[in-house]
Amino acid sequence: MNTRILTGITTTGTPHLGNYAGAIRPAIAASHADNVESFYFLADYHALIKCDDPARIQRSRLEIAATWLAGGLDTDRATFYRQSDIPEIPELMWLLTCVAAKGLLNRAHAYKASVDQNEAAGADADAGISMGLFSYPVLMAADILMFNAHKVPVGRDQIQHVEMARDIGQRFNHLFGQGRDLFTLPEAVIEEDVATLPGLDGRKMSKSYDNTIPLFSSSKELKSAISRIVTDSKLPGEAKDPDNSHLFTLYQAFSTPAEQAAIRADLQDGLAWGEAKQRLFTLLDEQLSEPRERYHALLAKPNELEDILQAGAAKARKTAGPFLQQLREAVGLRSFAVQGADLTSSKKKAKKVSRVVSFRDDEGFRFRVLNRKGEDLLLSKAFADGRAAGMASKHVQTAQDDLDIRQADQQLSVWLEDECIAQSQQYATDDACAEALAELRSALASDES
Ligand code: TRP
Repeated sequence: MNTRILTGITTTGTPHLGNYAGAIRPAIAASHADNVESFYFLADYHALIKCDDPARIQRSRLEIAATWLAGGLDTDRATFYRQSDIPEIPELMWLLTCVAAKGLLNRAHAYKASVDQNEAAGADADAGISMGLFSYPVLMAADILMFNAHKVPVGRDQIQHVEMARDIGQRFNHLFGQGRDLFTLPEAVIEEDVATLPGLDGRKMSKSYDNTIPLFSSSKELKSAISRIVTDSKLPGEAKDPDNSHLFTLYQAFSTPAEQAAIRADLQDGLAWGEAKQRLFTLLDEQLSEPRERYHALLAKPNELEDILQAGAAKARKTAGPFLQQLREAVGLRSFAVQGADLTSSKKKAKKVSRVVSFRDDEGFRFRVLNRKGEDLLLSKAFADGRAAGMASKHVQTAQDDLDIRQADQQLSVWLEDECIAQSQQYATDDACAEALAELRSALASDES
């Protein structure tokens, strides 16, 4: 079976070199592997939680989409879409919201951090906290569970969210799966060998530290950023320690082992920092120039980008639509028109939901059919001998659609060769009787014992 990999990118900023090396490039590479189905999407609903600037949201969506495509994502292989183009996701989020424990969400790091901040400031615990922030993990669970992802590559700060998706999915399976798993339980994947890229000052490259190197801006801007990389004050000719230089770490992330060995030796031999920066610039500029061109070409044709993402959404919805339908049915949101038939077919593979009990009373040998809750659905007539009762009971359990069930005077009766062999109680209304019929059909259909 294929492994399904899924990850989302919150659309609040412009991707920088660190995002590219740490997330985008490995994800694109992973999508080329055999036996892998990848789902990559713009988490633009998540972006709304953190950002109320529509222009910025829109710009970021466009830039991130173009970055992934320019980086070589093959949209024939991967499914690439915007979260907000998949209405099934927020609908699933509601189904999950109804089973997610509030106590679980209270423990989410992002929410807790905000509460702690408020408390430290002497403010109300929930001051300034939206329901969006609180429910963030449930939306993320919907993203993941919608496509039954096995593996979810994320940063360390997101591990807890993937674990919550597991918890919520497991609870849903337990409540509504009738013994089978509706959702695959996902696993967070942290790429250990993809080093987090350091920024200009050596701390993790991040917009919040203002230490990023731009990805697809001009060569000139790339050069200027690289010139601002902080190094120690060793002079040209003095031996440098590559392993204590984040310039070297940056170089490593984009070079072959042979290139790495070469610059390592040169640094130890006293290569000037200025020279080393020039070499890093040449390396990056060469590697980025082609995708940079593709990036700007894509941004110049937003209509084409729109078409690509619409096609991605259509592809994603082909999976999401039918699956959501199944989930709706599992929780009891079913069409009235086909209720009986639907119950029968959707529960075929389910665990046994009825129980047949044989017993003997003063009048002879009988059996009852009970529903899951132990309530009577049918009581047989009294048979003269146990064998006849057994055969009738077996017929009731195996005849499936051929079972002759009749409905009259708010009562169900089961017939075999012109003889009524079992009856239900008399129900108060026709509707109640029809419901009992659907339940009986479904109970018997799933009974494969
Ligand atoms: N919350 C993730 C982040 O900020 C983005 C995201 C949204 C995501 N939905 C997801 C990641 C589903 C993985 C799977 O990084």
